[in-house]
Amino acid sequence: MDQRMIVKLKDISKSYAEGTDSPRRTILKSFNLSIDFHESISIVGPSGCGKTTLLNILGTLDKPDSGEVLFNDQNVINLTDDQLSILRAQKIGFIFQSHYLLPQISVLENIFLPTIAVEKDEQDTPSIEDVKRLLEKVGLEKHGNKLPSQLSGGEKQRVAIVRALINKPNLVLADEPTGSLDKARGNEIINLLKDLCVNDQTSLVVVTHDIDVASQMQKRLSYKNCDFIEC
Ligand SMILES: Nc1ncnc2c1ncn2[C@@H]1O[C@H](COP(=O)(O)OP(=O)(O)O)[C@@H](O)[C@H]1O
Ligand SMILES: [Mg+2]
Repeated sequence: MDQRMIVKLKDISKSYAEGTDSPRRTILKSFNLSIDFHESISIVGPSGCGKTTLLNILGTLDKPDSGEVLFNDQNVINLTDDQLSILRAQKIGFIFQSHYLLPQISVLENIFLPTIAVEKDEQDTPSIEDVKRLLEKVGLEKHGNKLPSQLSGGEKQRVAIVRALINKPNLVLADEPTGSLDKARGNEIINLLKDLCVNDQTSLVVVTHDIDVASQMQKRLSYKNCDFIEC
C-alpha cells in the first residue's frame, strides 16, 4: 500500500453523448492523477472543458467509463451506492460554487447535517463546541443561530467551508468556491481554506478561474490540448 496517496486516478476515460446522432464527446482520455496526503492542487481551464467532471470522479459522485479510482489504495469503482455514500461522508468534504445551505434551518444545523450520515465512536462525533470553534475560526461565532438568508454571500460560503470540514475529511474538493464572490472576499475564502487544510493535514483540490488562487496551490493542473496537464 502506498501510504502517501489519498486518491489516485488510473487510466481514466470519460465521455458524454452530446445528442442522439452526434458522436460522444471525450472529456478525459487515459487520464492519470495522484493526490498525496496534505497536498493542494488547483485545476484551471475554460468553461465546459471538464473540470467539474474531474472533480466529481475524484469525489466518487460520478463514475468513469473505464479506469480505476483508488481511495486509500482501494478501488472504489465496484462499491455500492451505499458504500460510496459512507466513504464520501467520512473522507471527503465538498464545497460548491453555490453554497447549497438549506434555507429553513439554522447555520449550526446546516453544519451538523453531514454528521448524520456517519457512524462514529462517541469521542469522534463533532460536538457543538467543535462547531463553535470552527465558526470562530471563520469569524462567524455570533451567527450560529441565524438562518442562511440572514448572511451575506461570503458568510454563507464560509459556513459551507465549515460544513465541508465537520467530519474531518482527508480530502476537500472545492468547485469554483470563490466564483460568486468579489476578489477580496474570494481571497479570504481561499486563505481560510488553505489554513484549515494545512493545519488539519487535509488534501485540497480547488477548481478556479482565478490564476492568483491557482498559483497558491502546491500542484497546478491546466487544460491544454484537450488534456489536464501539470504546469
Ligand atoms: N451528465 C452529463 N451529460 C451529458 N453531458 C455532460 C454531463 N455533465 C457534463 N457534460 C458535458 O461535459 C462537458 C464538461 O462539463 P463540466 O465538467 O461541467 O465542465 P466545466 O466544469 O469545466 O465547466 C460539457 O460539455 C458538459 O456539457
Ligand atoms: Mg464546472
